[in-house]
Amino acid sequence: AAGDPAAGERVFAQCRACHQVGPTARNVVGPQLNGLFGRKAGSVAGFNYSPAYKTPAVAEKVWSPENFAVYIRNPREVTPGTRMVFAGIRSENQIADLIAYLRQFDAE
Ligand code: HEM
Repeated sequence: AAGDPAAGERVFAQCRACHQVGPTARNVVGPQLNGLFGRKAGSVAGFNYSPAYKTPAVAEKVWSPENFAVYIRNPREVTPGTRMVFAGIRSENQIADLIAYLRQFDAE
């Protein structure tokens, strides 16, 4: 089912401690997430990624709604050694809503 961006904004409250989106987004604890889909993993200028982002499986990844959905269910299992300390989101509906929200920033 297509996600609901307004519901996704509420899901993003769990991310906002570490990530920003929108025209004024900066890298903080985590990289800014504008233009995520279609972006190479670990490619935000000025953000110092962990060594986990140098491993081939991660370095070759281009973010898509599909691989993001897998990642955000269990970030530390999908990206061993990542500094993103976040348990993940189990609800497929919440993940779809989050994707719909993040898509709004594809052109930022
Ligand atoms: C990395 C999404 C929650 C800290 C990332 C990346 C994505 C992402 C897509 C990879 C970015 C890239 O390749 O440029 C999210 C979403 C969250 C969330 C959607 C909420 C559902 C958090 C939280 C924290 C955090 C709560 C801090 C406690 C980080 C850090 C990285 C990262 C530090 C870089 C990891 C590394 O260098 O190993 N996040 N994140 N994230 N995130 Fe999150």
